[in-house]
Amino acid sequence: MRVLVTGGAGFIGSHVVEALRDAGHDPHVVDDLRSGSLKYLPTDVPLHRVDIRDAAALGEAFETVRPEAVSHHAAQVSVSRSVREPAADAEVNILGMLNVIEQAHRVGVDRFVFASSGGALYGETSVAADETTPATPISPYGIGKWMGELYLRWAARELGIAAVSLRYSNVYGPRQSLEGEAGVVAAFCRDLATGTPLTIFGDGRQTRDLVFVTDVARANVAALQQAAAGECLVANISCGASIEINRLATELTAVCGAGTVEGPRWEPARPGDIRHSLLDPGLAADVLGWKPAVSLREGLEQTAAWFAESMS
Ligand SMILES: NC(=O)c1ccc[n+]([C@@H]2O[C@H](COP(=O)([O-])OP(=O)(O)OC[C@H]3O[C@@H](n4cnc5c(N)ncnc54)[C@H](O)[C@@H]3O)[C@@H](O)[C@H]2O)c1
Repeated sequence: MRVLVTGGAGFIGSHVVEALRDAGHDPHVVDDLRSGSLKYLPTDVPLHRVDIRDAAALGEAFETVRPEAVSHHAAQVSVSRSVREPAADAEVNILGMLNVIEQAHRVGVDRFVFASSGGALYGETSVAADETTPATPISPYGIGKWMGELYLRWAARELGIAAVSLRYSNVYGPRQSLEGEAGVVAAFCRDLATGTPLTIFGDGRQTRDLVFVTDVARANVAALQQAAAGECLVANISCGASIEINRLATELTAVCGAGTVEGPRWEPARPGDIRHSLLDPGLAADVLGWKPAVSLREGLEQTAAWFAESMS
């Protein structure tokens, strides 16, 4: 399958590109490189350096590639920026996504996978959220992801596109950006690599459901292969297990062999941070045949090794 991966030079998108190649598909990338990097892309994967807000340039890229499928990862990814600049967020995450859907339809794309967010849609979860849990986004970023899912549902019903919205939990792994709100694993790895004490916001008893990036990439391949025309499947992509941030700090410190680094510092909780986030991945197992395969320990080791090398 010829697949156009938007945001394919970014953290998750570049792993999707690799997983598609490994599965025998033909990935092409649209990315304006605002946070992604050419060095994350295999040299033989074509990059179209295009801003998805620019419908004409995006149209040319679609015309050149003529993809059969789209994996849509390009996005404004900062929740706090979405709060400060909601219109700028919507320009990329709502209008930009609509440009991608329109161009996909125009060139006859029949499969479309969208990177949505379980954390931003479900918010605080006292029990594992499944796909019937109501979406109650509280940030413009979350509202944009919800709108994206609704537009994709419309595209499936009205345009006949086979669509899948994958609601990721907290994704971690090599190549995660340290800009803006770095994921907690990336921020800890950076600090351990530079011998800086870890900073924990709040009491550290908050929990996250961490899923390794290569597992997320495999879920994308499965979703593209199994999407059915006229339908819009929504599936959580997560481990279905949560870890306290205090324990994560201990485990990662052990993985890095950094026992001599001064212990963590606890800072006041950040406004807007949710306390508990946990998603049920059961539907993805049933419908996509997908389960996470990388253990937390293994994922932390790979991530820490990548950060140690990239920061040396
Ligand atoms: N990282 C997570 O835990 C997580 C969780 C849920 C959902 N997501 C979603 O997954 C997707 C990928 O996120 P990521 O963590 O890999 O972030 P990332 O910043 O590494 O990747 C985003 C990519 O999109 C590109 N991009 C941004 N705006 C663009 C534009 N206007 N035109 C063209 N390209 C543009 C960037 O250059 C970058 O390569 C996003 O849609 C994000 O909302 C991520």
